[in-house]
Amino acid sequence: MPVIELRGIKRIYRMEGKQNESSVVVRALRGVDFSAEAGEFVSVMGPSGSGKSTLMNILGCLDKPSEGTYTLDGIETSKSDADTFAYIRNRKIGFVFQSFNLLARTTALENVELPLFYRSREKGEKREKGSARSRKERAVIALREVGLEKRMDHFPSQLSGGQQQRVAIARATVNDPAFILADEPTGNLDTGMTLEIMGLFQELNRRGKTIIMVTHEPELAAYTKRIITLRDGELVSDRPLTQPRNALDDLARWKRNALLAGEGQSAGLLRTAEKYAAKEAAS
Ligand SMILES: Nc1ncnc2c1ncn2[C@@H]1O[C@H](COP(=O)(O)OP(=O)(O)O)[C@@H](O)[C@H]1O
Ligand SMILES: [Mg+2]
Repeated sequence: MPVIELRGIKRIYRMEGKQNESSVVVRALRGVDFSAEAGEFVSVMGPSGSGKSTLMNILGCLDKPSEGTYTLDGIETSKSDADTFAYIRNRKIGFVFQSFNLLARTTALENVELPLFYRSREKGEKREKGSARSRKERAVIALREVGLEKRMDHFPSQLSGGQQQRVAIARATVNDPAFILADEPTGNLDTGMTLEIMGLFQELNRRGKTIIMVTHEPELAAYTKRIITLRDGELVSDRPLTQPRNALDDLARWKRNALLAGEGQSAGLLRTAEKYAAKEAAS
């Protein structure tokens, strides 16, 4: 059974025109079929305006389609009421955003604990004994999995962008969601941090996590295992990558090159300094 199953998804935005004008209709998705099995790592590509965000919002249960069905982990989401819809969103999906979206005055550990806290307050959810302690334990494990155990008492401002995104990934995985939904997750990061985060996603995926990532950069899609492409609201291509690039290999290569470039630079500076010294000695 697929984790995600979209059938005939359409999303129409109606914008009311000014007085006497007819309303404008935008067909953002025009009948998308897509399914993903557990353990997949899919990137969603397509030019600006092609419907990526609209599809993200539907996959993330932030919005419902105008037509079609979306079955997540066996639950038909389109028919669910508002409470169930929110419950599915909180329990089944781990979000990772470009802008990290961490709470500023809250430590890394508390940020990761937050989804578990909401969960313990949900109606119908049995209260576990010693739940505060088990919440903390689970958050620590999630932070360990992203390599940030030693930074768990830091506030977001005390962490690099890459580390903040690691915290956000720990927060996304702590609830053990059906899949992780990442929207341009490295859009605010430099090359080194980008490769680190892609390496982390690849590692999580190797350990069985299902990941859907929206990106407009083909270089990043190359680290995933399947690429779907949208154009004008339609899914125009869906292809597997039999040999995705290895992000940590690329990171090591990139670091070596950066180091060589750095050495070249300091060697150049040294030569310049020597020239000045020679001139001074001569004068
Ligand atoms: N809330 C909205 N109201 C009206 N039109 C929208 C809305 N959101 C997106 N659109 C339109 O739907 C189309 C797809 O947009 P979007 O899903 O944001 O594409 P992408 O994320 O690929 O850039 C575009 O033509 C966009 O202008
Ligand atoms: Mg968009």
